[in-house]
Amino acid sequence: MKNTVNVCIFLSILTCSLGSMAWGSKAKPLPANVDKETGAISVPTDYTLWPTLGTWSHAKDENGAANIHEYHVVYTQPSTIEYYQKKGRFPDGAVLVKELLHAETMSMTTGPAVGHATKLKGFFVLVRDTQGRFKSSPLWGDGWGWSFFSADDRVKTASKDYKVDCIPCHVPAKELAPRHAKEDDKWIYTLGYPVLQKK
Ligand code: HEC
Repeated sequence: MKNTVNVCIFLSILTCSLGSMAWGSKAKPLPANVDKETGAISVPTDYTLWPTLGTWSHAKDENGAANIHEYHVVYTQPSTIEYYQKKGRFPDGAVLVKELLHAETMSMTTGPAVGHATKLKGFFVLVRDTQGRFKSSPLWGDGWGWSFFSADDRVKTASKDYKVDCIPCHVPAKELAPRHAKEDDKWIYTLGYPVLQKK
């Protein structure tokens, strides 16, 4: 009888700890810009309150002068920056928003060719997924959820298939990424984000 009781206690502790292990390893809840059922991504409503990770400026040659005509400004949650600085990788649920902006270049008191952003053109959004969610969605895979939005629709993505719409252009990032980076993080052009580099 005593043995049976002990076995019972042991089993219930085991079940309980296995249960909490499974619970403990559960993914973080998805960020608010992801539909929990379908995985549909939208542009986060509050991203302009987030810090910028970095900015890319696009110039073309016009009559021998550099003309900046577009900016790409990348935002992420403050917690993502903090996590990356500590652990050297993106956390599950990290959201990267790349804002595309038209720009103009003009001579100003600071220099002869100074660019400034004008109007919004669109958004690229990435959501880090360390759990392999939404396996049947063509917009989730390779460790991320991927979507593009035109400036006039922040809810419905214009993307159909990330393997066609996004991956080919992100392949060069793999070579540019730090060697110690996690394989899925190598899709990101981190060289443009000095804030993520270890001090
Ligand atoms: C024409 C090539 C091209 C395509 C197509 C493309 N990307 Fe990118 N993406 C880049 C480059 C290059 C950068 C960094 C430099 C820049 O923005 O000019 C970048 C940066 C980003 C960033 C900022 C984080 C990072 O990797 O540095 C996000 C977010 C992003 N892309 C998402 C997407 C998504 C989602 C898709 C598909 C819907 C996509 N991109 C398709 C080339 C591309």
